[in-house]
Amino acid sequence: MNAQDYINREDKYGAHNYHPLPVVLERGEGPFVWDVDGKRYFDFLSAYSAVNQGHCHPAIVKALTEQAKKLTLTSRAFYNNVLGEYEEYVTKYFGYDKVLPMNSGAEGDETALKLCRKWGYKKKGIKQDQAKIICCEGNFHGRTITIISMSVDPEARNDYGPFTPGFIKIPYNDIPALEKALEDPDVAGFLVEPIQGEAGVFVPDEGYLKKAYDLCHKKNVLFIADEVQSGIARTGKLLACDHEGVRPDILILGKALSGGIMPISAVLADDDIMLTILPGEHGSTFGGNCLAAKVSIAALEVIKNEKLAENADRLGKIFREELKSVKSDMIELVRGKGLLNAVVIKPKNGKQAWDVCLAMRDNGVLAKPTHDHIIRFAPPLIITEKQIREAIGLIKETFKLFE
Ligand SMILES: Cc1ncc(COP(=O)(O)O)c(C=O)c1O
Repeated sequence: MNAQDYINREDKYGAHNYHPLPVVLERGEGPFVWDVDGKRYFDFLSAYSAVNQGHCHPAIVKALTEQAKKLTLTSRAFYNNVLGEYEEYVTKYFGYDKVLPMNSGAEGDETALKLCRKWGYKKKGIKQDQAKIICCEGNFHGRTITIISMSVDPEARNDYGPFTPGFIKIPYNDIPALEKALEDPDVAGFLVEPIQGEAGVFVPDEGYLKKAYDLCHKKNVLFIADEVQSGIARTGKLLACDHEGVRPDILILGKALSGGIMPISAVLADDDIMLTILPGEHGSTFGGNCLAAKVSIAALEVIKNEKLAENADRLGKIFREELKSVKSDMIELVRGKGLLNAVVIKPKNGKQAWDVCLAMRDNGVLAKPTHDHIIRFAPPLIITEKQIREAIGLIKETFKLFE
């Protein structure tokens, strides 16, 4: 089979809910992936920041294979000898009393919304079915019906109604709008991405998160951070909220919590919030499975042992500086934090971000447009300075082709 055969097969038998760049991958190691013809690429998407630790990190693969031979899943109907180890590890790692383990990022967000509502009724005293949660325009929290009820993106919402009520949408990075929304006494929480990844790596003004956090606390409203994409060293700190010294009341993690080895998400909170959910009221067959427990510990160890936050911070600065120096009228703006960056593309002679991504693919760098005019650049955080400089060279050569 050649590359086109693989593409045709996916097209024929798979739902068409994605529009992949035409490249067929079969192997990955560190910051690299190889296609079925043996061509090597720098992976500058990292599976939407799930592969922060690099592809097939040996320590995580070892944890996976060792546990896979022993016990993979017990469900939560029984105790096992590894879930508690993970729960202790992850809560101490992020500094919370409790964790609620789930699988996908969307499930993490759903869990946080339920937890917030539960707290709103049990602790804040909001009248039954009246609780509201403030969310931000431009958000991306996943694809379930409730989550897209928070979205303002027609592509995410069209023909999927009716939607879940109970959300107040305000503009992102807008403190006065938050202040006004918080006047409603039925508000239980404010859900925010510290950097809006899918929207195109929108970094809010410095101080936004801290001000938002303080306003929430004044009104007895939970500050909920969706760090599914921005967390786990991606932006140059363990959490993007750490840049402003903010400790979310509810923290949502996913993606790199497993190093991209399997779907693992988690919601962290302290006892006064987390213990409002009682046995039987929420859960998931696979959430907190034995395999995930061991994989996630290994993935988080790699982040610390290999100082990936520091690496992201240092190499991110080089990346932005270098790309800002490129003389191309297709580059409108370069923005980001750590190794979560984006270039806003100005179309030229009918050529768009998609065409730039195709040309970068030919030059050996894989990235994908988010919306039509923004390219996100998010390599695995284990990338070295030498490697990122080589990739930057390839990206620069690509932009020259459009001059
Ligand atoms: C901030 C954020 N939250 C939630 C999600 C949803 O995660 P998943 O695709 O694992 O459901 C994503 C995915 O891109 C995300 O970026």
